[in-house]
Amino acid sequence: MPTDQPRRTRVADLLATQDLGREVLVKGWVRSRRGNKYVQFIALNDGSCLATLQVVAAAEHFPEESLKEITTGACVAVRGLLVASQGKGQAVEVQATHIEVLGTADPEAFPLQKKGSDQKGISLDELRKIAHLRPRTNTFGAVLRVRHALAFAIHRYFNEKGFYNVHTPIITGSDAEGAGQMFRVTTLPPEHPPRTADGSVDFGQDFFGKPTNLTVSGQLEGELAALALGQIYTFGPTFRAENSNTPRHLAEFWMIEPEMAFYDLQDNMDLAEDFLQSLVKYALTHCAADLQFLSETYDKDLLGRLKSVTDNAFQRLTYTEAVEILKSAKQKFEFPVDWGTDLQSEHERYLVEKHFQKPVILTNYPKEIKAFYMKLDEDGRTVRAMDVLFPGIGEIIGGSQREEDLAKLTARMAAMHVPQDELWWYLDTRRFGTAPHAGFGLGFERLVLFVTGMTNIRDVIPFPRFPGSAEF
Ligand code: 4AD
Ligand code: MG
Repeated sequence: MPTDQPRRTRVADLLATQDLGREVLVKGWVRSRRGNKYVQFIALNDGSCLATLQVVAAAEHFPEESLKEITTGACVAVRGLLVASQGKGQAVEVQATHIEVLGTADPEAFPLQKKGSDQKGISLDELRKIAHLRPRTNTFGAVLRVRHALAFAIHRYFNEKGFYNVHTPIITGSDAEGAGQMFRVTTLPPEHPPRTADGSVDFGQDFFGKPTNLTVSGQLEGELAALALGQIYTFGPTFRAENSNTPRHLAEFWMIEPEMAFYDLQDNMDLAEDFLQSLVKYALTHCAADLQFLSETYDKDLLGRLKSVTDNAFQRLTYTEAVEILKSAKQKFEFPVDWGTDLQSEHERYLVEKHFQKPVILTNYPKEIKAFYMKLDEDGRTVRAMDVLFPGIGEIIGGSQREEDLAKLTARMAAMHVPQDELWWYLDTRRFGTAPHAGFGLGFERLVLFVTGMTNIRDVIPFPRFPGSAEF
């Protein structure tokens, strides 16, 4: 290619421009090539948007033989004139003058052949086995752009509200948070670890001089920061070594955890509702083309469901009220419901999808089924917990007002066998200038699942981690 070439322009920018009749340079991956012996049409995608750019290669410059490496999946650089398109389906096209193949993709070997590599020819299950290539499909391009937009909207939301982003540790020395089974972090040799006199593994000789794990939540550290900076949020990777073989669980996921001094449960619910509504609105405005595509391809009800979240106040009720509704429901449940049992996702979805037909916030759960740090209600039986339940998802947020009273907190810890010596630093917040405070955790992938309308959480994170799978 000659050296006096124009700067590269992204496809998204070319499709939006009014400035035609100029020479442009585009680079991207071939979704398809078709045509006849006079002219060939190349659909080029560079990931900047869902749409492809039509490249027209006239036979006078490009005999068909010269285009033989331009197959689905190949990477090319195209230089040419940007003009109004004569054909249907696109406003502009590029009349190619130079085409350089940057990377070939052998049609015999490249797996994403069908239909410009959307999922029509290849199922989502099959794509999971080639997760390293699936970002090249329309579906995963759309999902990843929506995922990015939501991450950006989260930071923007909190920044505008005066929250500070705090980075909490990924390696943690406490295994007492009680949020799930943990992954051990160690540099000790598994085949012959050093042992103490009684034969158990001597973690005193491990890297940190004690047993360490990957974090299951940034909340406890987040509370330390909230009781200094006022309102903070974390947005980090979270690891749970259990119960992850479902369409809604990952072993590695991302969680957003705001924590606010001087908030009570009511304030916490108001924030959670406003936060979720604002994120869904952001996606509806900024990801319109991708959401339209996902809706048409997978789920005709998607946009309606998203609007049902932005347009309706969430239904708020106590766990006790919910149990009454579930017990008198006509529907048969696989798991029986009674006061004191944890709700299953079938129960949560009944409340949201059948009974109220809008998002639900359940509060004041029995203390036995919730974490030690939740503030005890006056009745001594329930705690100021809140779970936000969404259509198609079930629990999307879990949170609570926290127990700020040292005596009550340590009593709960004792009752629940949570070691207080390990969490001495956490208890110091209640010793020195304790304050009422509250917070919650939003599972990022559950949010992306809801907004994209995908049905398996493994399809909304680029490289899913679940039992038996860490290939890519
Ligand atoms: O309800 P959870 O366990 O709450 C906490 O971890 C609290 N420390 C949060 C807080 O108050 N700061 O998890 C919060 C959310 C869930 O509602 C769910 O959306 C998501 O995290 N989540 C998972 N997402 C994907 N895979 C998993 N294995 C998940 N476990 C929880
Ligand atoms: Mg929970």
